[in-house]
Amino acid sequence: MRVTINQIKEMKQKGEKIAMLTAYDYTTAKIIDEAGIPLILVGDSLGMVVLGYDSTIPVTMEEMLHHTKAVARGVKSALVIGDMPFMTYHVSTEDALRNAAHFIQEGGAQAVKLEGGVSVADKVASIVNCGIPVMGHIGLTPQSIHQLGGHRRQGKSLEAARKLLEDAQALEEAGAFAIVLETLPAPLASLISQRISIPTIGIGAGAGCDGQVLVISDMLGLFTDFVPKHVKQYAKLADVMSKAITDYRYEVKNGSFPTKAQSFSMDESIIAELKK
Ligand code: KIV
Repeated sequence: MRVTINQIKEMKQKGEKIAMLTAYDYTTAKIIDEAGIPLILVGDSLGMVVLGYDSTIPVTMEEMLHHTKAVARGVKSALVIGDMPFMTYHVSTEDALRNAAHFIQEGGAQAVKLEGGVSVADKVASIVNCGIPVMGHIGLTPQSIHQLGGHRRQGKSLEAARKLLEDAQALEEAGAFAIVLETLPAPLASLISQRISIPTIGIGAGAGCDGQVLVISDMLGLFTDFVPKHVKQYAKLADVMSKAITDYRYEVKNGSFPTKAQSFSMDESIIAELKK
């Protein structure tokens, strides 16, 4: 049975914390789903941790759809959320609707996420009115890093904190089913979580959020170009992979791979005949 947005909202009401992870490919999505994670985001972090861009800004709809389809093929239970890339929901409501629909119809996602608060609330309402669930995202919104002046903590001043509270309320009123709070002081994220009835999913926003999200490549210790302060590495896969690949290289070089166990035999008389 597929997780629904109503079940996610009920989790907040029951005080049950919500775990969310990103995924970008079939194999990883399948493992995440089988581990019981209810929300899987095909994040535009794809651009940095999979495609090697230096920000999320270059990520296109084509790239997002390609990876959303792969994730959707691996997931049976979790709600799959497609992350709308930079400038695919800003120019017009029509654009926002068409691109959101691509994630659902072609990508196989059940919901979309977009960045911004008051400024995108009208787009959120239009998408929701078409029957597509929307997750909001406020605080450090990576698609606006040039405007924000880098990957900085948000909501430090009274004015900035008040604006974030208004953004969260505008998203709730527009019909969003949950909101990602990224890189906010923990007490502010807690207050926002208490003031709205839909779940908040924190990343670098402290334990007072209704749920947490991490980028899978960060939490597995696979992406090591930089490790943000909010990340806990539950494994060090880059080290495990590096050792396995180095062992393989040595074994190919010294002839200890492959052995009989990885080889196929045949009737020896046929070889003997061929050698005549
Ligand atoms: O793109 C992404 O992975 C995200 C999460 C960090 C919330 O937006």
